[in-house]
Amino acid sequence: MLEVTNLSVSVGRKLILQNLSYIFEQNKTYVLMGPNGSGKSTFAQTIMGHPQYEIDTYSRIFFNKENITSYPVEKRATSGIFLSLQTPLSLGGITVFQLLRVVLKGKKDALSLKREIMKLAKRLNISQEVLNRSLNQGASGGEKKKMEVLQAGILKPKLAIFDEVDTGVDIDALKTISSYLRHFKKNKTIIFITHNSRILDYIQPDKVLILKNGLIIKDGDADLLSFIEKKGFDKL
Ligand SMILES: Nc1ncnc2c1ncn2[C@@H]1O[C@H](COP(=O)(O)OP(=O)(O)OP(=O)(O)O)[C@@H](O)[C@H]1O
Ligand SMILES: [Mg+2]
Repeated sequence: MLEVTNLSVSVGRKLILQNLSYIFEQNKTYVLMGPNGSGKSTFAQTIMGHPQYEIDTYSRIFFNKENITSYPVEKRATSGIFLSLQTPLSLGGITVFQLLRVVLKGKKDALSLKREIMKLAKRLNISQEVLNRSLNQGASGGEKKKMEVLQAGILKPKLAIFDEVDTGVDIDALKTISSYLRHFKKNKTIIFITHNSRILDYIQPDKVLILKNGLIIKDGDADLLSFIEKKGFDKL
């Protein structure tokens, strides 16, 4: 579904990901953990096609067997890749409805889109007032994370990467988000980047991956999580 081969990525002169190869299978849920600065967000942004991250000429990214290594962000998004950002962006003068309307032009009429957004906002406990504001303007950290989940829910990607969607959300919001994501992950490939194993009580992952110094140094099942909780990343 998503295959990366010899993925080396740098920003400026700094090499962040180093010859990383991995196959993410269809309809499986992965958790990606690792120390701060190990390259998790870089990996996520590279898969989404952020132009700031420079990919080595030998690196390849395949999505459903198609080589997407040189595709721009928009083309990757229309192929079914979604990234929920660690630090969600704010957009002045445009609401989430207006944004999604542009993205889904020709695929969904305005009325059904509005209804769907309202329904999901209710489920995610997002207030009307936040919904009607310019996207993420003045929004709290938790509200922004919910807006990312809302966009994922409407766009229904084939592959969704959630970069620390559980960071900065309160205990009730975490429950709300997690219970929605438990339902959302069906028939999708999901990569959850997290520092907090609490979200994993709700979303049972198929695999846990550890990224350290720009490489996946270990993959395993949920037992790996308890090992990390007790011993930290140093012992790996
Ligand atoms: N635009 C940039 N310019 C310079 N260095 C960068 C840039 N983006 C990332 N880096 C560096 O690359 C390394 C990996 O960063 P990245 O954000 O991928 O880490 P991370 O694993 O997501 O960390 P965290 O758990 O803190 O979110 C860090 O040392 C970071 O400072
Ligand atoms: Mg990060």
